Amino acid sequence: MDSAQIRQRFLDFFASRGHTTIPSASLILDDPTLLFVNAGMVPFKPYFLGQQSPSFPRATSVQKCVRTTDIEEVGKTTRHASFFQMAGNFSFGDYFKEQAIPLAWELLTAPVDQGGYGFSPDRIWATVYHDDDEAARIWHEVVGLPKERIQRRGMADNFWSMGVPGPCGPCSEIYYDRGPAYGREGGPVADEDRFLEVWNLVFMQFERGEGPAKEGYEILGDLPARNIDTGMGLERMAALLQGVDNIYEIDTSQLVVDRASALSGQAYGADPDDDVLLRVVADHTRTAAMLVGDGVLPGNEGRGYVLRRMMRRVVRSMRLL
Ligand code: ALA
Repeated sequence: MDSAQIRQRFLDFFASRGHTTIPSASLILDDPTLLFVNAGMVPFKPYFLGQQSPSFPRATSVQKCVRTTDIEEVGKTTRHASFFQMAGNFSFGDYFKEQAIPLAWELLTAPVDQGGYGFSPDRIWATVYHDDDEAARIWHEVVGLPKERIQRRGMADNFWSMGVPGPCGPCSEIYYDRGPAYGREGGPVADEDRFLEVWNLVFMQFERGEGPAKEGYEILGDLPARNIDTGMGLERMAALLQGVDNIYEIDTSQLVVDRASALSGQAYGADPDDDVLLRVVADHTRTAAMLVGDGVLPGNEGRGYVLRRMMRRVVRSMRLL
């Protein structure tokens, strides 16, 4: 299934279940806490906080996202990327956990000829926040996931916020077991290479205050309504559905890798150091193109500096190749 089909299948599934399809927002939004849009929920933040009322109770989108915290890791690992697309379904005070979990399960496991992604149910694991008995119960009793494939984790892993004051809540992450060739038994708590996170369901119901990004921050109180925010990584999903090892080998990334190989004369897969450089080129050219597309120009500070740095790293990598 190519990336465009994976994307369309997601939107069609949720549109046919009452969700309004919203096009991706620009990477540049007027939010002083963010350099770039880094999650599918960012354009909807005022709805979660109750500052604005949406004209639709449910939405679905595939949002372009840029995350700049791990630029140095891009290419050295095959897990990091600075640009990715996040497919999501959202409820603004409409449905909550009792529908969000079965909906995700249905899309993942429905056969391909019936609009799903066709995953074998026995490859799927889920994690829930340590005291979220309700989510664990839905996974087991409604969906039928065996108890031994539902694991509980603490705040660092299963409680989501934007890392800054704003909406937050416990989450349930869905993992796909790639099999013993990729690592040890024991589920996602034991090995996140073998058990690959594909989808995060956030039960957005609290507002957080200042404090550390991931855990130990203050919960200020309840949001005006209980909401759903989910994020499925389109590129990771493509790696699984295309049967390739990682996000640099999927249809859309491979085009850039092949072009960089042709221009430099260095084949992908022949030399580990060259592969790092080819992956840097594949990732950064895409991010740079998306930033330019949304109006960023290379510069010496802020967003412009991020773009300039990406472009310099591409030029350097191509020269080294
Ligand atoms: N907002 C959630 C995330 O980015 C879905 O993981």
